[in-house]
Amino acid sequence: MGSAVGVKALVIGNGGREHTLAWKLLQSPHISEVVCIPGNGGTATLPRCRNLALSMSDFEGIARFALVNNIGLTVVGPEAPLAAGITDALQQQGLTVFGPTQAGAQIEASKAWAKDLMQEAGIPTAKAAVFTDLSQAIAYTKAQGAPIVIKADGLAAGKGVTVATTLEEAQAALEAAFGGQFGEAGKRVVIEAYLMGEEASVLAVTDGLTIRPLLPAQDHKRIGEGDTGANTGGMGAYAPAPVVTSALMERIQREILEPAIATLRKRGIDYRGILYAGLMITPQGDPNVIEFNCRFGDPETQVVLPLLDTPLDSLLLACAQQRLESFPPLEWKAGAAACVVMASGGYPGDFQKGFPIRGIEAAEATGAIVFHAGTRLKPPDVVTDGGRVLGVTAVGESLQEAIDRAYAACDRIQFEGAYYRRDIGHRVLKVGNVSPPVAG
Ligand code: AMP
Ligand code: GLY
Repeated sequence: MGSAVGVKALVIGNGGREHTLAWKLLQSPHISEVVCIPGNGGTATLPRCRNLALSMSDFEGIARFALVNNIGLTVVGPEAPLAAGITDALQQQGLTVFGPTQAGAQIEASKAWAKDLMQEAGIPTAKAAVFTDLSQAIAYTKAQGAPIVIKADGLAAGKGVTVATTLEEAQAALEAAFGGQFGEAGKRVVIEAYLMGEEASVLAVTDGLTIRPLLPAQDHKRIGEGDTGANTGGMGAYAPAPVVTSALMERIQREILEPAIATLRKRGIDYRGILYAGLMITPQGDPNVIEFNCRFGDPETQVVLPLLDTPLDSLLLACAQQRLESFPPLEWKAGAAACVVMASGGYPGDFQKGFPIRGIEAAEATGAIVFHAGTRLKPPDVVTDGGRVLGVTAVGESLQEAIDRAYAACDRIQFEGAYYRRDIGHRVLKVGNVSPPVAG
């Protein structure tokens, strides 16, 4: 904090999460400019923000740019560059980075490694075993019975998990993984007991010593209404998630977040960034970890950051510089936020790109925030450029109000083949009201 007027920040990535990070950083009084590598149509048109056409894997080029341009903070969005060591490469040049090193990113990049860490730390999670041999894996699933969950060990762009309701399905998933469906990522699998319950995402900020949760969120992973159909990157989200009461958040802090950081440290890993706990809250009310991610969630970021009043750069710098313990309590807006993802027709299967998007200004005139994901600036238009196109986000005094506002904004946006779910938030609205913020 203090008098750091005119800090330039760099955001790595090109999704809705990265547009949200750039937008939130620019609300800080300390940030003069944000550069996105490579960015999207949203970051290209955001005032004081620009895109730079470098590859996310060109660590040398990124480091050179950051040094020459006096970048004070680099925030890495996606898991792939973290797992490939972008933080190590930039830190070696003396740059300040928010995001774990390659060693820390293993918590997402290897599900077997993460399971082992959870077991060592005593973190509640489903019973699991790791296999590198198909026939042994099949024998194990037969002994355990269905339902059972098959997970490719490595990064598989969110597609490496099969929740098998029958042994036949489990066997087919194992054969596909060992047959190379996920490349090397699938040649090792984690077979895990099936957990029932309600999912929630708790993103926490850490400097490797102290860890603090952000507001809890929930996302909708399935393409269809009523949470049916194929898995996607996420079709919408809301925060705070009422299922995570303040009593539960205290348990998550004590039983999951703090042991995770302590065990990372025991392994010699200085983890500075987001630790994202994907949780299953069992019907008995116990939190279990389904997965850890080493980065901000997408679209969870689109609903958590609009509620944050603390300047984001100050918080992320406190993590990167390992002084989170003395950082003031996080400040949050009252109320709730909801994000509805507008996708290209056909997603998560095949879809066409390049359609002009109309009505973004009209949508924003309602007070909503239109975060871009798969878009590209093609003057004079912004055109579709991916499966998930926009994250139309609104804040309200209640979750119902936030959802109504987000949908009112969606109604003003058109592009060919646009698809979005009409039922974001349905699980909560059935149950009742939004609980007060519980993060610290
Ligand atoms: P992941 O890619 O690890 O987030 O898993 C994708 C989805 O699979 C999760 O969001 C859950 O819905 C489901 N899943 C993963 N592990 C389990 C489990 N042990 N029991 C039940 N569902 C699971
Ligand atoms: N929304 C799920 C994820 O970011 O992994």
